[in-house]
Amino acid sequence: MALQIEKIKKSKISDVDFNNLKFGQVFTDHMFECDYENGAWQTPKIRPYQALAFDPSAKVFHYGQAVFEGMKAYKDENNDVWLFRPDQNQERINKSAERLDMPAFPKEYFFEGLTELLKLDKEWVQKGEGNALYIRPFVIATENCVSASASTNYKFMIICSPVQAYYAGEVRVQIADKYSRSANGGVGYAKAAGNYAASFYPAKLAAEQGYQQVLWTDASNHEYLEEAGTMNVFFRVNDTLLTAPTSERILDGVTRKSIIQFAEDKGIKVEVRPIKVTEIVEAAKNGELLEMFGAGTAAVISPILGFAHKDEKFELPKVENSYASFIKKSLTDIQRNLAEDKFGWRFKVQ
Ligand SMILES: Cc1ncc(COP(=O)(O)O)c(C=O)c1O
Repeated sequence: MALQIEKIKKSKISDVDFNNLKFGQVFTDHMFECDYENGAWQTPKIRPYQALAFDPSAKVFHYGQAVFEGMKAYKDENNDVWLFRPDQNQERINKSAERLDMPAFPKEYFFEGLTELLKLDKEWVQKGEGNALYIRPFVIATENCVSASASTNYKFMIICSPVQAYYAGEVRVQIADKYSRSANGGVGYAKAAGNYAASFYPAKLAAEQGYQQVLWTDASNHEYLEEAGTMNVFFRVNDTLLTAPTSERILDGVTRKSIIQFAEDKGIKVEVRPIKVTEIVEAAKNGELLEMFGAGTAAVISPILGFAHKDEKFELPKVENSYASFIKKSLTDIQRNLAEDKFGWRFKVQ
């Protein structure tokens, strides 16, 4: 693969206040892009980060034919840069693309583009607890035509944004009983741009009532708990961790599957099975629901302090020896090359 590289003349890095970053607002010096034309991916390029020009008829603007990924790079004390299970994101973007009738992006292009980009922008990956470089690969439909059918042309890109320790504030969730995020046969398992657009309005209504996230339920009867915002969700009932099985409605999160594997290895009982809303409400009422937490790349683990279901409100107890804190610390230590990588999850950028 002939990757073309055009380097920036002068880095913008000295303008950046790395101690006051708002999530996803500052981008590094370079970006990776590759166009799909005439039925094939063309020569991939890295060039200075810049605005792009599109024809107003480009299909992505009209039909939302777009998919994306979210991953992070970390720098250890020796200045080595690490990714966490990037093969999972590479496979998932192509699964998402297939569902949106978009062409798969070749694995070797993905890895070479990502690696070269991270090597060029290595200074932007800051050391220290919580600091990371958020990586956003995405694909958009670029054919100039407003007919409602799959595009013939696409653009694959990777952009990167330095981020600090993710603190979402206190998170309480509202269990969905009207709106739905996804349905059987739909696109819930894909990281399709439109899934997120569709969640903003119900999320706003929940926020107006003091809930930072909607905890989505199945679209048929709002009977089973699924996932929240950009997180899969875990429940600790007594000493067992429960999480919903992935399905065509739920994103197969990298953090989720890593938590399951890690927890089982540590001897924590994990049950992956459909979880009824009534079961969690019951467990909250009789004091058996000890923890709830969201799992995703942004925060790794976000404790959920309470939830509402219809008119009932519940607060979770403060527990000692929280599973959430133990698992979060253990996973972030693996991600940052501070602990043994027993499962072979780390990927060195070199
Ligand atoms: C809907 C949804 N669920 C779950 C997740 C968590 O997935 P991951 O752990 O791969 O970041 C994400 C974030 O990517 C998401 O967008």
